[in-house]
Amino acid sequence: MQMNELNTSNQPPAPARTPGPVILDLKNISLSFGGVKALTDISFDVRQHEIRAIIGPNGAGKSSMLNVINGVYRPQKGEIVLRGEHRRNMDCYGAAKAGIARTFQNIALFKGMTVLDNIMTGRNLKMRSNFLMQALYWGPARREEIAHREKAEQVIDFLEIQAIRKTPVGRLPYGLQKRVELGRALAAEPDILLLDEPMAGMNVEEKQDMCRFILDVNDQFGTTIVLIEHDMGVVMDISDRVVVLDYGKKIGDGTPDEVRADQAVINAYLGVAH
Ligand SMILES: Nc1ncnc2c1ncn2[C@@H]1O[C@H](COP(=O)(O)OP(=O)(O)OP(=O)(O)O)[C@@H](O)[C@H]1O
Ligand SMILES: [Mg+2]
Repeated sequence: MQMNELNTSNQPPAPARTPGPVILDLKNISLSFGGVKALTDISFDVRQHEIRAIIGPNGAGKSSMLNVINGVYRPQKGEIVLRGEHRRNMDCYGAAKAGIARTFQNIALFKGMTVLDNIMTGRNLKMRSNFLMQALYWGPARREEIAHREKAEQVIDFLEIQAIRKTPVGRLPYGLQKRVELGRALAAEPDILLLDEPMAGMNVEEKQDMCRFILDVNDQFGTTIVLIEHDMGVVMDISDRVVVLDYGKKIGDGTPDEVRADQAVINAYLGVAH
């Protein structure tokens, strides 16, 4: 993927955020696939309410890191501390239960289903009534369904996609599909939202919209955000701190200004287009 700059200088400045205590602490994470070392001894933390970016060239291990955080991959070494609780590994169900939601580098939606139904899938974990009650659409199950639909509709209003709520996702342009995927993640009402290249393949206008939604989610719901993004204009504009990976190793960590001035980061990533 090309690293390109988005001119967001005419955007209103990002709201002042006050990151809280460490909510997620990754300690000495190593992950390999056979002979391929995807992550080598990576440590960094994420503070409550911050926007934490992960950057680095293709194959640096960014997606693998998100996959470790939400339990898709189990690291051979290291530890994950979530809200002070030590875990050797995460598992997907446990991560979702603990309030971690994510979007994927390649859109993971049901293309034949409508926008509303896709966003409803984000509510699955919150549904309490059992399958039989739902099938009969009876009593508590019916009330629960209505409450979940209301939540999904709130997400649709928030993301300004009312006009396409009944449209099958497969018929939508790519930029809107990405927005629907954000909606599916938001429907789970996460505390921590992991976004894997939410703006990849978008045009400038779509990117500006997505930036605004990410900032609004962070600001209005207090959601902590871990964001992988190649567009350095976006990263520098909206993130509080940036961790830089290269060949599975951490080569930089700090505020956008610190990272931008770091010679190792410039050499590996910022100085050249990958
Ligand atoms: N399931 C897997 N099986 C084998 N190797 C894998 C697997 N997932 C990732 N890798 C390898 O781990 C390394 C890191 O890949 P990863 O997808 O995490 O990089 P990335 O930084 O997200 O790259 P990109 O910017 O291209 O998305 C690569 O060498 C990749 O080939
Ligand atoms: Mg990736």
